[in-house]
Amino acid sequence: MDKFYITTAIYYVNDTAHIGSISEVIATDIIARYKRLKGFDVFFSTGTDEHSQKIENRAIKEGIEPQKFVDREASIWKNTFDKFKISYDRFIRTSDVDHIKVVQDFFKKLYEKGDIYPGKYEGWYCVRDETFLKDSDLIEGKCPYCGGEVQKIKEENYFFRLSRYQKTLLKYYKEHKEFLRPESRYNEIVNLIKSGLQDVSVSRKSFKFGIPVPFDEAQTIYVWFDALINYVTSIGFYDNKDKFEKYWPADLHIIGKDITRFHGIVWPAMLLSYGLPLPITIFAHGFWNLEGARMSKSLGNVVHPDDFVNKFSEVAQISEDISIDTLRYYLSREINFGQDGDFKMETYLKRYNSDLANDYGNLINRTITMLYKYNDGVVPSRTSDDKEIVKLIEGKKSTYIKEMDEFNLSFALDEIWKIISSLNNYIQRKEPWKLKKESTDLNNILYHLIEGIRITTILLLPFMPFTGEMILKLLDSFPVDFKDLEWGALKSGINVQKISPIFPRIEKDKIEIKVDRKDLISYKDFNKLDLRVAEVIKAEKVENSEKLIKIEISLGIEERTIVAGIGKFYSPEELIGMKIVIINNLETKELMGVKSDGMLLAASNDTELSLIIVDRDIKTGTKIS
Ligand code: MSP
Repeated sequence: MDKFYITTAIYYVNDTAHIGSISEVIATDIIARYKRLKGFDVFFSTGTDEHSQKIENRAIKEGIEPQKFVDREASIWKNTFDKFKISYDRFIRTSDVDHIKVVQDFFKKLYEKGDIYPGKYEGWYCVRDETFLKDSDLIEGKCPYCGGEVQKIKEENYFFRLSRYQKTLLKYYKEHKEFLRPESRYNEIVNLIKSGLQDVSVSRKSFKFGIPVPFDEAQTIYVWFDALINYVTSIGFYDNKDKFEKYWPADLHIIGKDITRFHGIVWPAMLLSYGLPLPITIFAHGFWNLEGARMSKSLGNVVHPDDFVNKFSEVAQISEDISIDTLRYYLSREINFGQDGDFKMETYLKRYNSDLANDYGNLINRTITMLYKYNDGVVPSRTSDDKEIVKLIEGKKSTYIKEMDEFNLSFALDEIWKIISSLNNYIQRKEPWKLKKESTDLNNILYHLIEGIRITTILLLPFMPFTGEMILKLLDSFPVDFKDLEWGALKSGINVQKISPIFPRIEKDKIEIKVDRKDLISYKDFNKLDLRVAEVIKAEKVENSEKLIKIEISLGIEERTIVAGIGKFYSPEELIGMKIVIINNLETKELMGVKSDGMLLAASNDTELSLIIVDRDIKTGTKIS
């Protein structure tokens, strides 16, 4: 039996699962389930990334021990994955004992080989992304990836000799076009390697919550070096060499596009240095936005899949399991896997009502109702095949397989829906209600419909495991594998149980989604903010910056300078005379060499920005509360 080792990225334990992260683990689960159905010996690994500076910071903020904090949070992730029917074989935590041993072993081996060496790091660090950054990486003083604040660090670190692997990596990429997909990311990484690789820091001195460098306890191993190794730990690298030999190299690492550099450059270089084979394919998918905006906790627009699924099950009057299947379906159908997507309630409702309620659900309801009306709920035997239907199903089935093998999840679903709509048309065309009860023609039609549903449902099983199992059990056809896809495998004589509509139509055109309210603050904390009305008296662009504008404001009794990143949305001229809102008691900050004393308020998302202004002529300097 061929093996298939598939992984997701591991999730920062301090974040809660959101629609974006759950979409990755769902897509991975779909591929894992598909491969199992096809007969592969699959190992599916996912888990949590627990050793970062931001995790230590969060635990300190909550006043609990970091280990207790990560234990609590990891179990929340695991419960969510269980609820969403994620069929992982191992849920790895980077605080697992075997993982700690493997990371230390890796570090030591690379050190002994001369690929890790001590040095001095001077540069920037983005805590949110846990990334080291050079001066030239920063965009207007901020992290180029998340736009967040960066810290200056100057400390002794160990470095990994990434530069040594530039040539080998390029050659490998050239010879293995399937190593990184889709092609656009392949090209991006190849260009990055061509532009030159520099050694990277792989340890930190100034924080403790992590794995100690085995020969230098004062240093903690950098979280990315630690995290990437999870892929080998998970399959027994520490204590089960046979298992490791069986499953390594990974067949498919599924990750988001934001972490392609670590997976496409650093990880293979680490493996080359250790002397291990490289993964077969890394697939970097796109990002889900929420109603057009980037989803992030700091923007306060995170939708928790748990809350969402519960809410939707209430609205649709369906069980939580069917609601989970609906979400799994939507995420795989709405965009083709790999692309960016926009999670929208409007399209969610449309997909539910038209694809699930009208097409698939209705086909099942109509068929079972007819089966009861015309044959007491029993599957009849067939005397001949309708060539058109059989040919159509065979054709769609083979395209489905081709698409699934290429991870084109939504294209594969398109094929399933073509079968569903031809079966619905078949009913219209054949008008079984006009035929005589128990006639061969009527029995043949009923058989074709149920057999069509059975095959469709097997194809759907990786996407909708709960619904699929429920329907296949009604047809006495569970468990299944690929051989059961053969036309005619449905046994006649089965008594099919009546069921109520699986996806009842929703007669609403809008559903409110609950978004996560950011950490609540007390009135006392709010009162610490000194918000004031200020009038812009002078404004000019900051030299060498497209975004920053230097603004002189009047607060009535005093004048002040603030620097604001609004240059893409406002010209300096139009600001003059505007009455804006500022935070008066914010510490001074230097931006591109200009001191900013305060901050103006604006509403913004990725593409728009609007200043908060007062709509009546109120005295400059008035306090806002
Ligand atoms: N811990 C690192 C990964 C280490 S892997 C050795 C990390 N964690 S994360 O929690 O920030 O992200 C985990 C995965 O979720 C990443 O692959 C990331 O791209 C993905 N996603 C995070 N937000 C997402 C969306 N909005 N949409 C789709 N995927 C998203 O990075």
